[in-house]
Formats: sequence, C-alpha cells, structure tokens
Amino acid sequence: MKTIILKINSQRIDLAKIKIAAEEIKRGNLVAFPTETVYGLGADALNEKAVAKIFKAKERPFNDPLIVHIADLKELYRLSKQVPPVALELAKMFWPGPLTLVLKKSELVSNIITADLDTVAIRMPDDNIALSLIREAKTPIVAPSANLFGRTSPTTAQHVAEDLNDKIEMIIDGGKTKVGVESTVLDITVSPAQVLRAGGISVEQLKKVIGEVKIGEELEMGFRSPGRLNSHYSPRAKLILVEEKGETQASKVLQIAFEYKGQGFKVGIMAKEENKDQYNGFKVKVIGKGNELKTCATNLFSILRSFDQEGFEIIIAEGLEEQGLGLAIMERLRKAAVPKYEC
Ligand code: TXA
Ligand code: MG
Repeated sequence: MKTIILKINSQRIDLAKIKIAAEEIKRGNLVAFPTETVYGLGADALNEKAVAKIFKAKERPFNDPLIVHIADLKELYRLSKQVPPVALELAKMFWPGPLTLVLKKSELVSNIITADLDTVAIRMPDDNIALSLIREAKTPIVAPSANLFGRTSPTTAQHVAEDLNDKIEMIIDGGKTKVGVESTVLDITVSPAQVLRAGGISVEQLKKVIGEVKIGEELEMGFRSPGRLNSHYSPRAKLILVEEKGETQASKVLQIAFEYKGQGFKVGIMAKEENKDQYNGFKVKVIGKGNELKTCATNLFSILRSFDQEGFEIIIAEGLEEQGLGLAIMERLRKAAVPKYEC
C-alpha cells in the first residue's frame, strides 16, 4: 500500500485534515500521529482486527501490551473497572501529559491489547493533533511507538516513514515531538505504585504527588510488563554507553573510540555540550548540556537515527546524570547498548 503523508500544523489545527485521518481509524486502518513524547502508530482500540494490524506492521510480538490513548477523563471509567482515587489525583496533575497509568481493565478492553493481562495501560497525550484525532475518531486509540519492534523510537514523521513506509495507511506529520522520550508507565494496581518504565514524568515529580513510588528494576518486571525486554531502542550501529562519571568519562570515551577506529570502524560520539571539544578527529553530535536534560531527551533518538543514516558502525554515548529526565534517558541508552546476542 502507498502511505499517505498528511502535514498538519499543531498550532493551527486543520480540522478537515484531522477528519480524513479519523476516517482511516474508523475504517480499521493504521494512522501514525505525533504525541508530545514520540510518534504513535494508532488504531481503533475497540476494533480487534485493527489492533492486530499494529503487531503485523511493527513486527511486534503479541506478548507486548499496548497503551490506550484517550482525550476525555470519562473514558477511564469505560476502560477500567476500578479507578482508584490516586488515578484521579495523578490525572489531574499530569494529564494531558507523558504519564501512562496501569489499571484493572474492563470487559471492553480486548486481550490482544493487554497481552492477556487483567490490566490496561492508559494515557492522555499532551498534543493537539493527537487529542483532536481521538475526538474525531470518537474512539480510544491504541498506539505503540511508531517504529519497527526493538528499534529507536520516532520523534519525526520522517523517522516513522523510515520504518513503516508502505506498511501503514497514513502518517500525520506534525513536526518534531517536544518531549522526545516515551511516557512514564506507572502501575497503580499495587501499593506503593510502581514505575515500570521511566519516561517523560520523572520519579521526583511523581513522589511529590503520591509519596512513595517503587522503581522498575527492583521488581520482577518480566511478569508485570512483558514488553520490557532487555534489548530495545536499538540503532543499527553498535552502541557503547560510557557510564564513567566526571573527568575520566572523556578519556574512557576516547580510548574506546581509538580502539574501534584502529580496527577500521566508522565511529561517532554522542557527547554533552561541555565535552564536545575533547574528541578531535571524531564525528561528534551534541545531545545537550549535561544539566539541561529536557534538551537531551528531545535530541536522544534523532541523534541515534542520524548516526545510522550516515552509516556509522559504532556510536559511543556519554552517560548522563540519573535525575529527572536523566533516568529515562539512561534507561533507554542501557537497553540500546545491550548487544543483540544477549536479548
Ligand atoms: O509515550 C508513549 O508512551 C508512546 C506514545 C506513542 O504514547 N507509546 C509507547 O508505546 O511508548 P509502546 O508500545 O512503545 O510502549 C508501551 C509500554 C511497554 O513497555 C508495555 O510493556 C507497557 O507500556 N504496557 C502496556 N500495557 C501494559 C500493562 N497492562 N501492564 C504493564 N505494562 C504495560
Ligand atoms: Mg516502543
């Protein structure tokens, strides 16, 4: 099939165009659309056949559950049979926004969405195009990130086309996404609530609202979030993450860079602004200042993709501080850095 690209200005929504895209969703077809985090690959959440098409297009295994996107808080009560007060507190504070809540599912939610779990992941995206699309389609929309399974998430329509061109009906091009990393996935069916995936809302922000929060790696993740594989977000190049802190970081990066260059590989470095001049002779892409993690999050995936586009075989990434958005960035870099043979 030929993928149609529909350009929409998110500041001045052209409703006629949104209606065209909403028609595709209603017909049971796939539409990729921008959210504030990354581009999503959307289908009608209440149409099982449409949902199944997502797994096929992404080459995603069926044991990886999907997030349902809503535009109206009332939908929570249709999709979940048990909405605890904490859900409303969090929604009030962070929706629309990059927080996904895991709740007990209702009968309305198909098992194909939840990978047979009795819970469902729900979020309200903070993006005018996404919200208008959901409203016009008059149905909740399931949407994983619009990349091939296991690969780097897309932050532009161009990235989506690289992975899914001619495999889906439509891509809405709404420009670059503003957050750049996916939503935080928070399980509130347990107490204390547990972060299953770090993301756009930081653990510090969550703690301010609900007090205690458990963080992913302390849990038996395999059980509660089957989609959390070790290897994910991978560029085609081999990614090496240098976690050394402080002054030794740059010398470690250089040592590895020279090693691979010596073996004939094309080596690129993803560095913080303050270190960029330390790597003479290597292609350096700047993720942002080490203390401006918002900027770093926005640039992360597009830098990894651009190294791939330019034919780099090795990407050496400097580690960042694990506070705020830094936790989400580091979680993604660690997974992207897992060698393929270990996944
Ligand atoms: O920012 C985002 O969340 C983006 C945009 C498009 O909204 N979506 C996204 O979807 O990242 P995806 O499919 O790439 O990641 C969904 C994550 C997976 O790690 C999956 O395992 C988890 O959410 N998840 C979904 N349903 C779940 C459930 N019922 N219980 C636990 N984890 C769940
Ligand atoms: Mg994804």
